[in-house]
Amino acid sequence: MTHPLEELRESALREIREAKDEQALEALRVGYLGKSGSISGWSEQMRGLSKEEKPVVGKLLNEARTAVTAALESAAAEFRAQNEVAALANIDITLPGTPHEIGALHPLTQMLNRAIGIFRRMGFALATGPDVDTEWYCFDALNTPADHPARNEQDTFFLPDGRLLRTHTSTVQIRTMQNQPPPVRVIAPGAAYRRDEVDATHSAQFHQIEGLYVDEKVSLADLKGTLEFFLKELLGAETQVRFRPHFFPFTEPSLEVDVKSKALKSGEKWLELCGCGMVHPAVFEEVNKSRGDLAYDPEKYTGFAFGLGMDRLAMILFDIPDIRLFAQNDLRFLRQFA
Ligand code: PHE
Repeated sequence: MTHPLEELRESALREIREAKDEQALEALRVGYLGKSGSISGWSEQMRGLSKEEKPVVGKLLNEARTAVTAALESAAAEFRAQNEVAALANIDITLPGTPHEIGALHPLTQMLNRAIGIFRRMGFALATGPDVDTEWYCFDALNTPADHPARNEQDTFFLPDGRLLRTHTSTVQIRTMQNQPPPVRVIAPGAAYRRDEVDATHSAQFHQIEGLYVDEKVSLADLKGTLEFFLKELLGAETQVRFRPHFFPFTEPSLEVDVKSKALKSGEKWLELCGCGMVHPAVFEEVNKSRGDLAYDPEKYTGFAFGLGMDRLAMILFDIPDIRLFAQNDLRFLRQFA
């Protein structure tokens, strides 16, 4: 004689075999194994059974549960597999795919990566600062007096709250020295802004690589050697480098750097690339004041700083005639550097 639980199990398995879809399976699961399902109901009935009957029915109940659960799972897996096959059947794998355009680095970024690589080999670390900064970082801390022309409304973009778009990356010199005692050896690439008349060689936004090296006994010879090495690595060994006296409030002495190379399209022309000099003692003193210590003792430390025009460098390196091309996002231009 078969027990009603065995009959229940057999009918469940048959119905599962005949189920048409996943919803039908779910209905069966609820009907048999759910809280008030017909198999589950037997656990209630167990209570009323005699000592002899209990283990027999308990075993049947377990078997029924296990068998039905397994059958439900394998049937569901079957349905899932069928669904996948059906979905794939609608895809024509012989159709050509949708091509993705592969991007490339902007010529300025390429130039920057090369430049950073060279300075890295000389032991320079990377530093950064914000594009929007205060007058103090941009001018006061850099020994630039209140009546200096660079601070004029005509030359600088001021925000309503009094902050400004930095006119050079030299702001990062100050931020770096505030954050660490000497020795310091950093480069800080980034954008700078001036209210220039825009033409083929001037743009309201341009890019610089700032450099700062402070330690005991740093000399002008170190500055010249560093920049000469850098420029020859970047532009070729035949590059000639020329230093001319100049003036910046935050360096003394100050110099400008020009390059000339037969390997470049610009040929025999000297091209101005960089401002530089020995850090002015007044800058160290202002940094000390804001740090509240004497970490940058001008009697003990000297340093050099430079600001390289990156757009200029990229224009020379890639023979680009107009600075405005960098920002116009014209793919016909950009593709040439991909
Ligand atoms: N900040 C200067 C400029 O933008 C360049 C410079 C940097 C000069 C560091 C000296 C030292 O023109």
